[in-house]
Amino acid sequence: MSKRLLRALAGEAVWPPPLWLMRQAGRYLPEYRAVRARAADFVALCTTPDLAVEVTLQPLRRFDLDAAILFSDILILPWALGQGLRFAEGEGPVLPPLRDMAALRALDLHRLEPALAPVLETVARVRAEVGDATLIGFAGAPFTVACYMIEGRGEKEFPAARTLAWTDPDLFGRLMTLLTEATIRSLSLQIAAGAEAVMLFDSWAGLLPPSQFRAHVIAPAARIVAALRRRHPAVPVIGFPRMAGLMLGEYAAATRVQGLGIDTAGSLEAASALVPSEMALQGNLDPLALAAGGAALAEETAAILEAMQGRPFVFNLGHGIVPSTPPAHVAELVRLVRAA
Ligand code: CP3
Repeated sequence: MSKRLLRALAGEAVWPPPLWLMRQAGRYLPEYRAVRARAADFVALCTTPDLAVEVTLQPLRRFDLDAAILFSDILILPWALGQGLRFAEGEGPVLPPLRDMAALRALDLHRLEPALAPVLETVARVRAEVGDATLIGFAGAPFTVACYMIEGRGEKEFPAARTLAWTDPDLFGRLMTLLTEATIRSLSLQIAAGAEAVMLFDSWAGLLPPSQFRAHVIAPAARIVAALRRRHPAVPVIGFPRMAGLMLGEYAAATRVQGLGIDTAGSLEAASALVPSEMALQGNLDPLALAAGGAALAEETAAILEAMQGRPFVFNLGHGIVPSTPPAHVAELVRLVRAA
């Protein structure tokens, strides 16, 4: 196994560290915007292999990155289960809010595999072209996906979803169970199609109090990791419980992910002290320092590299690239990390 990212996820302190960026394919690249303009809408972009393969590979043509991440979205899972989904221009995702048992019963696990067929074709075709880079598959973690499904749109605090978890724990629990099973299937299918590592994005994990963090973030992630490890023991899982703060150690111990994503606000030094020494950390440059460039980019990057030298580490951002990022700043970041 010689791929640098896979070595780091196996617990090796590869140096300079492997590097990829969340949302490395996206609107900050003019070539992405050109392909996006050819697709009828964002869901069509994700489910048309010719287009999705192209945008997945675009950042690797420009930059010397260690990974390609499948171009898709965490909300393709509810779409594949039968919940309507559209991305409104300038507004983000819109779904019919799931608030009762009838809406839950309308979701169908049997639709998942046929609906994901074009995404799996994208995985297979990208895998054939990535060379020395590693192909990462992904899913949203059940809590974060449930937030969008219940709320029906993006929100800062997801009040309807978090309220439902308290007021109708039966409905919320059934949705979480369904999503956990669907996530295991989706990630297993991506691995079977050629994904070499998978990442679980729990972008809104940090909204929960500890009791619910254990029930709705840690427990489903532990089940997903255990199921994947039984079926695909060699394929590492990266967990990203964003804004987990003081719950990070419990998440690491209970899930046993091979890689742990640290968000922009997390201290890498503190995280390092909380998790097993062979667990790779991944993160956590401020996406706005990348957009700013110059001294901000150089100094923040140097501090991260110094803090992580000698332990298994994957250089990344603390959240996704913002659309205003000049591509030249990404090239500069790659140069800085490669020179470590
Ligand atoms: O390059 C990559 O990282 C791979 C593809 C990818 C996308 N979304 C493409 C995308 C991945 C891994 C995601 C994950 C995702 N999607 C998350 C988890 C990570 C995070 O950012 O917290 C979440 C919460 C979503 C849901 C989502 N998708 C929202 C809220 C939005 C609208 C906001 C926005 O940035 O426009 C999206 C749309 C989306 N997903 C875009 C891209 C490139 C932009 C859509 C466009 O081109 O118009």
